[in-house]
Amino acid sequence: MRGNTRITVHPSFEVLAATTAARLITRLLDVQSERGEATVVLTGGSVGIATLKAVAESPARLAVNWSKVNFWWGDDRFVSADSPDRNHVQAAEALLDHIEVDPARVHVMKPADAGLDVAQAAAEYAEQLAAAALAEHRASDDYDGDAGAPLLPRFDVLLLGIGPDAHIASLFPEMAGIRTKDAAVVSVTNSPKPPPERVSLTLGTINSADEIWLVAAGSDKAGAVALALAGASPVQVPASGANGRSRTRWLVDEDAAAKVPGALIARLDA
Ligand code: 6PG
Repeated sequence: MRGNTRITVHPSFEVLAATTAARLITRLLDVQSERGEATVVLTGGSVGIATLKAVAESPARLAVNWSKVNFWWGDDRFVSADSPDRNHVQAAEALLDHIEVDPARVHVMKPADAGLDVAQAAAEYAEQLAAAALAEHRASDDYDGDAGAPLLPRFDVLLLGIGPDAHIASLFPEMAGIRTKDAAVVSVTNSPKPPPERVSLTLGTINSADEIWLVAAGSDKAGAVALALAGASPVQVPASGANGRSRTRWLVDEDAAAKVPGALIARLDA
């Protein structure tokens, strides 16, 4: 945990989703007013999807120019394109189908029926990231040729759900994905949370984000939240390893915060 970590405890799941939606709208608006476009990395999971639904239901969503928002995913389930298990499908139903997005800015992980195996789907997503990074770099004033070009685009806000085992995206405790340092994206073939096959950003890619917002609700997340905030090893407690460059926000409900020492909450709730 770094000095830029903050925690906000909310009275309920609904308030958490509504507040996170309001934060997201405001953050995208602020970034757009500085740079014209903004980039968000979405998560699956209950709070992540409820947040998107709350964005769609908020009158304030109209303040954002959604056609200039770049969408990426922290992970997706490697199942058929139209499966309700797809994080992309859930995000589309909750938000993307209700706003004016630019399809070219919606960067979906390949599904299982796209003719690639799961490892190829991970490699293809790394290529999408690298292509976007290069385009961004070329468009900026400081571009100095391909040498040293970044492999990752700028992520303004990256959302992460947390599992009861403290997994984030599809990086599970003790498994290969959380240990992977030499790739931007990994494939997972034995996820303990179904479905077994997934594609996930690696921790290094996640931590390239300017702001990371970890969202969690429910008493089954309390142990994971407390261990992560206590600074457990990321290999055992993946959520512990998430650190945004400028800010790491823990946005939780009272049940998920129940095992975090009050003194720590008081210190981080600034
Ligand atoms: C997924 C997720 C995963 C999720 C957590 C929390 O694809 O399953 O991206 O990392 O965010 O498991 O999910 P819940 O909030 O539903 O428990």
